[in-house]
Amino acid sequence: MEIYDKVQRAVQFYVDPVRFQYMVAVVALVYIALKVTQLVFRRYEGARALESFPGPPGHWLFGHVHEFRQDGTDLDKIVKWGEAYPFAFPLWFGPVIAFLNIHHPSYAKTLLATTEPKDDVAYRFLIPWIGEGLLVSHSKKWFRHRRLLTPGFHYDVLKPYVKLIADSTKVMLDKWEGYAKTNESFELFQHVSLMTLDSIMKCAFSCSSNCQTESGTNTYIKAVYELCDLVNLRFRVYPYHSDFLFHLSPHGYRFRKACKIAHDHTEEVIRNRKEILKREKDQNKFQTKRHLDFLDILLTARDENQEGLADEDIRAEVDTFMFEGHDTTASGISWILYSLANNPEHQQRCREEISHALQGKGTMDWEDLSKIPYTTMCIKESLRLHPPVPGIARKLSKPITFFDGRTMPAGFLVGTSVFGIHMNSTVWENPHVFDPLRFLPENCAKRSPHAYVPFSAGPRNCIGQNFAMNEMKVAVCLTLRRYELMTDPERKPKMLPRLVLRSVNGIYLKIKHLELDP
Ligand code: HEM
Ligand SMILES: *[C@@H]1O[C@H](CO)[C@@H](O)[C@H](O)[C@H]1NC(C)=O
Ligand SMILES: *[C@@H]1O[C@H](CO)[C@@H](O)[C@H](O)[C@H]1NC(C)=O
Repeated sequence: MEIYDKVQRAVQFYVDPVRFQYMVAVVALVYIALKVTQLVFRRYEGARALESFPGPPGHWLFGHVHEFRQDGTDLDKIVKWGEAYPFAFPLWFGPVIAFLNIHHPSYAKTLLATTEPKDDVAYRFLIPWIGEGLLVSHSKKWFRHRRLLTPGFHYDVLKPYVKLIADSTKVMLDKWEGYAKTNESFELFQHVSLMTLDSIMKCAFSCSSNCQTESGTNTYIKAVYELCDLVNLRFRVYPYHSDFLFHLSPHGYRFRKACKIAHDHTEEVIRNRKEILKREKDQNKFQTKRHLDFLDILLTARDENQEGLADEDIRAEVDTFMFEGHDTTASGISWILYSLANNPEHQQRCREEISHALQGKGTMDWEDLSKIPYTTMCIKESLRLHPPVPGIARKLSKPITFFDGRTMPAGFLVGTSVFGIHMNSTVWENPHVFDPLRFLPENCAKRSPHAYVPFSAGPRNCIGQNFAMNEMKVAVCLTLRRYELMTDPERKPKMLPRLVLRSVNGIYLKIKHLELDP
């Protein structure tokens, strides 16, 4: 009885509304105080780690976030700061997140030689969409997957893709006939995105999507655009770094909706293939007409213990390739075509080389890829001036020491500014000038290989590099063979560094049909 009384009194004490509110307030205050102390401590730690790296002054709360205006000046700013603060300088995103921005070849070499995980800020925001695929996975998982997927990029696998890419390119070029007739300028990036999506679907998944000709905009492409946009927005808006706040926001809602569209799309692609593979197995024959594609490799990959990839892993890899395999090349091709429009004398030289290589053929074959050295140099030069992946970042799991003795402790974010490195005026004389001869073999030999890193370098470089080069070559050759490209002086594109390099105001061209082609 006594015990019962005591309990009741205790309950009364605690449920007393005034006292209850008071207690909640105390708990909340203690929590906030702890959080603030933690943040102050992290800021202090960050500032100390970065002591030996002077950098541009930033706002005490927002850091350098507001310096990036998304108006086409952001990349120039990185270069300007790079000149003022050699090798590397810190950037602050909000009060506690700092990251060291590297723009020096030897610094990049040290960082890219490691298999340190990707940073957990920007890439973390990609995970709900592309899962832990090759791009964002790390440690053992990454290592195993990289080994299992590497055969998917063997040249025997890439060979039949050339014709498929040529087919997709032709669909795009047919669509452009109208623009050639009316002489009106048109926005390139969206056309090229559809073309590269069409290509990756055909090459990697043997799907004919007809996404280039279907009426209305493709919902998947729209979802991918939206996802890229929102991932970038999340990175810039500090409160959105919190999963909780982002989830509640309208942007979070749009993100989930777009994710669902993207996932439904990939799941359908996988489901269809599983059915085909099962049918083939039941009928005990492989459809010999179909080429061995990336999805076959994913579904049949086995490690040394004869273990394959889990369903969830397969979806992550498929989403990763759908994203990495088309958005990057779309950016690459769009900027290359723009660069050639902007440099008519190089465009003409490429065209002569191409007509010589193709000898009047209306298409392009595997063997032709090696017959266009000048065009290849123009492509490389455009990737230097307009790197489709303008920056890459890692999170240090152990301290790193650079060649000049400066170090960064474990736990910090370190990024390589691909654009910054490509604009280094010591390595690249007049860096803003388009000059393909920089890529003559004798000139390449004079530079550090890390002065040019459009595909990154080291163990975590781009696994799709050869695929991408082939696709860019085919698209450029077939386009130049049919059209003359001109810029629209009214609409000069302004570079916008997102996950992939875009343009604030689109990439516009004018085209003219060439006489020599039927
Ligand atoms: C012009 C086109 C492309 C460019 C400029 C490019 C650039 C890059 C860069 C810079 C990285 C390193 C990213 C990082 O460290 O965070 C990367 C990684 C990667 N790329 Fe590409 N890429 C292109 C096309 C492709 C294509 C066509 C595919 C697939 C078909 C692809 C698949 C990947 C994958 C899976 C990774 C992660 C590799 C790993 O971490 O092991 N990329 N790419
Ligand atoms: C450019 O690269 C050179 C040589 O690798 C280096 O000495 C120089 O500091 C770099 N410049 C900048 C701005 O990083
Ligand atoms: C097409 O546009 C170009 C470039 O703006 C211009 O020089 C040319 O005269 C135009 N041609 C026609 C037929 O309108």
